[in-house]
Parts: sequence; C-alpha cells; structure tokens
Amino acid sequence: MPEPITQTEYWNGDVGARWAGMQAELDQVFAPLTASLLEGAGLRPGERVLDIGCGCGEIALLAAARSGAGGGVTAVDVSRPMLARARTRPATGAPIRWIEADAQTHPLAQEHDRGHDVALSRFGVMFFEDSCAAFANIRRALRPGGRLAVLCWRALAENPWVSLPRAAVLSVVPEPAASPPGSPGPFRFAEGEALVDLLGQAGFTGAAVAPIECPLEIGADPEAATRFSATVGPIAGLLREIDDPALRERALAALRDAMPAEGPVRLGAACWLATAVNPG
Ligand SMILES: C[S@@+](CC[C@H](N)C(=O)[O-])C[C@H]1O[C@@H](n2cnc3c(N)ncnc32)[C@H](O)[C@@H]1O
Repeated sequence: MPEPITQTEYWNGDVGARWAGMQAELDQVFAPLTASLLEGAGLRPGERVLDIGCGCGEIALLAAARSGAGGGVTAVDVSRPMLARARTRPATGAPIRWIEADAQTHPLAQEHDRGHDVALSRFGVMFFEDSCAAFANIRRALRPGGRLAVLCWRALAENPWVSLPRAAVLSVVPEPAASPPGSPGPFRFAEGEALVDLLGQAGFTGAAVAPIECPLEIGADPEAATRFSATVGPIAGLLREIDDPALRERALAALRDAMPAEGPVRLGAACWLATAVNPG
C-alpha cells in the first residue's frame, strides 16, 4: 500500500493549483458565509488578526481592511500556490504577513510579541493531523482574552451544495470507503459538540458553536455550477479518483443532469461558527 499523502502535499499539488485558479469564483460562492464569519468575529479597528489556513487570502484581506493601518494581519497556510495567489491581490489597511507554515506546529506565538487579538478561519481548521495540538498552538498565539472565530462545515447531509452533486456522481461510480473517524477533511467537525469539547481540551474557555445556514449560488447557470463542482471541493475529489476517461465523462454528464435545467444554481449550505476565548 502506498503511504497516504500528507495535507501539505495535498494542498501543494493539483488541489492547491485548482483553488488558486478558482479564487474569484470561490470567494463569490462563499461570500454569504464570509460575511457571517466577519460579523461573528466582531473585528475592531487596530486589532491584530491571525488567519489560519488563509488559502488565497480573502479573509486576511478583508480583516486587514477592517482593522486598518493601526492593526496587523498574520496569514498562515501550507499551500504555496494558494499563498502565491494571495500575495498578488491588492491589499488595503493593516499590513499582512503571508507565512508558509503548518499552523499545528509553527510557533505562531512568536509571530506577534503582544499576541493576536483574534484568530479567524474560513474552512481552514479541519485538516490538522492533531486538531487538539493545533488549537492549543493557535490559542498560545492569542493575547489573554483574545478570541477565536472559525467556520467549519456541518454534516454532508445538511449541505446539499455537496450532497446533491455527490449523489449524481455516485450514480455512476461506487462510493469510496469512508475515512476513519477524526481524519482530516471538510466534514471533520460535523459534530459541533465534539468541536466544543476539543476547544476546551486545547485550553479555550467559553467555546460554543452557532449554526449558520444559507443557500450558496454555485453557478450563474448550470454549466458554471457543473464546472465549479467538478473543479474544487469534494466532488472534484471523487472525479479525480476515476481512472477510466469514459467513466469520468459519464460521471460529469450525471453531474450536469443533476443541476436545474437553467438559471442560477442555488443549493443549501450549513456550517458551524465556532467561537472561544483564550483565558491567558
Ligand atoms: C478549504 S481550504 C480554505 C482556504 C481559505 N481559508 C478559504 O476560505 O478560501 C483549506 C486551507 O487550509 C490550508 N491548510 C490545511 N492544513 C493546514 C495546516 N496544517 N496549516 C496551515 N494551513 C493548512 C490549506 O492549504 C487550504 O488553503
């Protein structure tokens, strides 16, 4: 059996390149969730912000604009192609330091001598090898009283923007074996209470999860929605596993057929906004 690839390898390969290429579309699709994250974080001018798994930089850039020239942003990710994309984007407000590092093991506390006021993440905290160690490391990078606000996906069944296209592809190819519980992946924290417990184990206080639900427009028309599903996210992962080109074409056709016949494609999404405080 070949060794499974690490998350650093995964996000530095084809997947990272695809996310970088789809940055504008992804940020548009996730815009309503981005707004919920920023509102939940309650950023104030002058704050020092840490963006975990910053990817192509949307949250870091918006946080920099909000915290203004008196603030600062540290943005951490393992993906070179996604960080490269982030660095090309126009920034305003607080200076941003883009850091290529593993947020689980990099000494984040050294990145700001007074500590960060807030650690944010849009879907960047579900991929750690050791989630408790990673959250403890993130907590140590916060000043006493500093806050955490992160978005994670709820269960697959509560996310039709993934489950509907997934069912279409699985009408053509067999379902892959499930990953062992606790493995890194988009639905790692589908159980909100488990995430609350984990944050407590990592030394946070007042951990809580709030449900967020909204439709996501994954394409302005069915072709754009099919392209989006087939390029990034869990469906793209399923398609990548299909070696036979003819079978892959059939799976893509099934994906297209599962979309509405015309018009914008809006499908439901469900997340947790997890918040907690570093007691110091
Ligand atoms: C689903 S993407 C989200 C990216 C970005 N936050 C966004 O919303 O567009 C997950 C991100 O987490 C990053 N990531 C995964 N494991 C990481 C780790 N241990 N340390 C830092 N970043 C990590 C990936 O490289 C990727 O950019």
